[in-house]
Amino acid sequence: MKQQINQLLVTPKPFVKWAGGKRQLIPVLSRNLPKQMGTYYEPFLGGGALLFHILSERNQQSCGISDLNSDLILTYTTIRDKIDDLINSLKNHEKQYKKDSKSYYYSIRESSPRSAVEKTSRLIFLNRTCFNGLYRVNSKGKFNVPLGRYTNPNIVNEENLRSVSQILQSSKISIQCRDFESVLKDAKKGDFVYFDPPYQPVSNTANFTSYTHKSFTIDDLERLANLCLNLDSKGCKVMLSNSNSNEVEKMFKERRWNIKKIQANRAINSDSKKRTGHYELLIKNY
Ligand SMILES: C[S@@+](CC[C@H](N)C(=O)[O-])C[C@H]1O[C@@H](n2cnc3c(N)ncnc32)[C@H](O)[C@@H]1O
Repeated sequence: MKQQINQLLVTPKPFVKWAGGKRQLIPVLSRNLPKQMGTYYEPFLGGGALLFHILSERNQQSCGISDLNSDLILTYTTIRDKIDDLINSLKNHEKQYKKDSKSYYYSIRESSPRSAVEKTSRLIFLNRTCFNGLYRVNSKGKFNVPLGRYTNPNIVNEENLRSVSQILQSSKISIQCRDFESVLKDAKKGDFVYFDPPYQPVSNTANFTSYTHKSFTIDDLERLANLCLNLDSKGCKVMLSNSNSNEVEKMFKERRWNIKKIQANRAINSDSKKRTGHYELLIKNY
């Protein structure tokens, strides 16, 4: 694997910006990883910040990655299987966008392509050019983010996409579209599962949970807490991220898990004094 990674053009990194993406928290997550792991499972994959970090460091790591968002999972499998066609399609988006960004953006937002390549290049194109690089859908599952203000967005990050494609071709990485609970039938003693679910809102007004047409409810959170217990009794190592929410803390305290409050500064302001300090929970069973 080390050899394989050395042959890659660049170290593969997340290829989409994803709400709740963990890029900023990689140093603290990395310090909290178990020393040893069997298979690595990430059932709320999103942009896969921790996945790509682990793959860049661990030789021959086997992984089971999944998410309920079928468009996102199609994107991973298309990058793996049809990288040349995908790059061509993205280059075409880039060319058209440069002619008239506004009307081209909205025409693609309204389109519903059929092929895997066109669906994937649409998702990446919209992610690169929409407001805040956000993926958000309405209750009918329709992408609804307006055009962003970019002078020169990087629509075709070819080196990174090729690198991601190469690493995903490893027979040790399985990619699936499924609900998080299915991980229970796969994970075995010694495996490591990292859960990064849509966060519980910390206030009644804070409410971004629309990664899919279904939102993540308190019942889902209960299901997740019980799943964590089942994985624990199977001998799996489990780590979970969530907002600093009383409900989440209570749920895991009752189950006697190790809960840390970690500082998750918003890195938008380069002046560290002006960054808004806020805390998140990191919950582990090891
Ligand atoms: C906070 S994001 C994960 C972010 C990711 N860690 C990253 O670094 O980009 C949560 C993800 O959970 C997915 N999701 C929501 N409900 C789910 C469910 N019931 N089962 C599996 N995945 C789900 C969403 O589609 C979204 O991609």
